[in-house]
Amino acid sequence: MSIENVEKFIAEFARSLAEETFVKMTLGNYKGADEHLQKLLLRMVETRKGLRLFFLYRYDTRDTAKNHDFDESVKILRGILGKDFFSGHLFTTENDFQLDIGRKGKSRLNTAKPTFKTKPKLEHDREKRRFVNADSFYLRALGITTDRGEIRDKQQDKWKQINKFVETLASLFDKSPLKDRTVLNIVDMGSGKGYLTFATYDYFRNIRGLDVKVTGVDTKSELVGICSDIARASEFENLRFVNGWIGDYELKDVDILIALHACNTATDDAIFKGIKAEADLIVVAPCCHQEIRPQITPPEMLKNVLKHGVMLEREAESITDGLRAILLEKSGYQTKLFEFVSTEHTPKNNMIVGTRQKKKPDPAKFDAEIDAIKQFYGIREQRLETLLNP
Ligand SMILES: C[S@@+](CC[C@H](N)C(=O)[O-])C[C@H]1O[C@@H](n2cnc3c(N)ncnc32)[C@H](O)[C@@H]1O
Repeated sequence: MSIENVEKFIAEFARSLAEETFVKMTLGNYKGADEHLQKLLLRMVETRKGLRLFFLYRYDTRDTAKNHDFDESVKILRGILGKDFFSGHLFTTENDFQLDIGRKGKSRLNTAKPTFKTKPKLEHDREKRRFVNADSFYLRALGITTDRGEIRDKQQDKWKQINKFVETLASLFDKSPLKDRTVLNIVDMGSGKGYLTFATYDYFRNIRGLDVKVTGVDTKSELVGICSDIARASEFENLRFVNGWIGDYELKDVDILIALHACNTATDDAIFKGIKAEADLIVVAPCCHQEIRPQITPPEMLKNVLKHGVMLEREAESITDGLRAILLEKSGYQTKLFEFVSTEHTPKNNMIVGTRQKKKPDPAKFDAEIDAIKQFYGIREQRLETLLNP
């Protein structure tokens, strides 16, 4: 093979890194051994260790990614150009370079005016890379992104919610006793269409490189079928979806239990399962709080406040989630309750997080508090409490 043009192309790549003019690079015309690999896309990212090149390997149904420092990147490029990939497009702020390697090793290198005169913002790239990879096949299959990897207009809120959720989960994980674990078992109760289940798997498996197993449980068999097909097509080997009720699911050896927007008391069923299975982290975002509201008899003092439907509804939500948090504490979990995503993106945004503690508290201390709250509002029953004290 005539290597002069190839070497020139590699030299321009190395120079663009050294002189900080690199924008991005695409390698195509793949003729290597992997029948599913299509392209390799390179862009610059900022990591804790400094600037790195983000290698995104695009397969027909999935993507994988890896970071490399500049020297490694040049070596990799030299090893694959003309062996696996037969075309390269390098964009710098000074010029575009297009390399084509033909049959019998003949090559052509074209230089053109730069398509991009400024470099893309690194901050944004880092955020995308760290938590959710917008190029992933599952996002396309679930209708969040277009075939070109752009977020669909109507899915912007969902996209923000997915990112915020994974970012929150990552931070909770890093602050929990699980932080040094390399093997993880996560169960997502009420997984629905699976957006968050897929993003959780992809983050821990492909971005953090952990040996993770994720199971989504949902009562809707149609959704379980669709999610299972997408998981298979994504080659997410340790992601599975199971059809069934949360209350009936046999939960064992779970490290993180998730239940996001599981309707009404399904959240209580999920928390209960997590407590019984001694999950280290329990992360729930409740919705449709229907159990407590009809039971509330407003105390005389609050009669005129709670006569308004909207106030009664909010009060019922606060009491329900507050009681859930106290019950988690009673069961030996340290709890946090916060808004995990702005109300502008979803009104169902309260998150309750329980982190299992080694030392168990005295339950009697909590019982008196729970009884006082129930008596004050005339509440007869709260599902989680009933499950914990049958
Ligand atoms: C509002 S969706 C939320 C889906 C997903 N977790 C999310 O946040 O995008 C609630 C899902 O929980 C499922 N679900 C509700 N109660 C359930 C139960 N007791 N057992 C299993 N699935 C349940 C529903 O079928 C539905 O798919």
